[in-house]
Amino acid sequence: MTPGTIDLAGVSTAYEGSDLPVIRGISFSVAAGEFVVVGGPNGAGKTTLLETINGMLPITHGRATVCGLDVAASGTGVRTKVGYVIQNFAFDPLAPFTVGNVVIMGRYGILGYGRQPGEEDHRMAEEAMRLLGIEDLADRSIGKLSGGQQQKVLIAHNLAKKPEILLLDEPFSNLDLFTRSFVCDILTGIADAGCTVVMVSHAFDALPDREVRILAMKDGMLSLDARCRGDEVEEKIRNLSGSVHA
Ligand SMILES: Nc1ncnc2c1ncn2[C@@H]1O[C@H](COP(=O)(O)OP(=O)(O)O)[C@@H](O)[C@H]1O
Ligand SMILES: [Mg+2]
Repeated sequence: MTPGTIDLAGVSTAYEGSDLPVIRGISFSVAAGEFVVVGGPNGAGKTTLLETINGMLPITHGRATVCGLDVAASGTGVRTKVGYVIQNFAFDPLAPFTVGNVVIMGRYGILGYGRQPGEEDHRMAEEAMRLLGIEDLADRSIGKLSGGQQQKVLIAHNLAKKPEILLLDEPFSNLDLFTRSFVCDILTGIADAGCTVVMVSHAFDALPDREVRILAMKDGMLSLDARCRGDEVEEKIRNLSGSVHA
């Protein structure tokens, strides 16, 4: 077993119906428990990179191996081991789900079709809610919460899965400064416990107080692969392009 590892070797991926690859010739290896920050300007391919790791896009060149599984052959298997907190999510204000419902749904992919969650599944969902400090919201309607509260619910939904890898796409965009640092501490704890964290972020004020890996994307290619402390990331990205939005 190779828990929490990501290996991309010359990977290009395209969106369905398009011949043109969006990310091109990407190679890197990530070990379990690394905290990876993905940077780069709008349209550089950051979201596409996360979707590639999560086995959601056809791979046109190269080979991607995630948690020891060949992504092209075992996309569904990969997604049982990977949590993905998407960018720009929105819940319908009338969605008939409570916070507790949404978090336990994080277990469904692992349970498989038609199987009901058991005691252990509920225990994992409760643990995830406690970690995010949202256990008091368990019976509230998801659609009636603030964006920041919904963001925490989505993270808890993914943690209930006990993922080997957690992908997050700009998770701080809905969060105030205090909540950013609260969530950042949680993500740091998760990585310290051995879960690989891969986070697209421009929020340089919310980075862990530990070594991180920076992957910067530009025009669908990798323009930087480096390791540094969380508080050095902004400088590294600035040096790359002379601009914060490298
Ligand atoms: N569903 C899609 N179909 C086709 N092209 C897409 C799709 N989503 C994104 N793209 C294109 O892929 C490129 C990279 O997008 P994306 O990965 O979302 O960038 P980023 O997350 O860095 O802002 C952009 O040129 C974008 O237009
Ligand atoms: Mg994006």
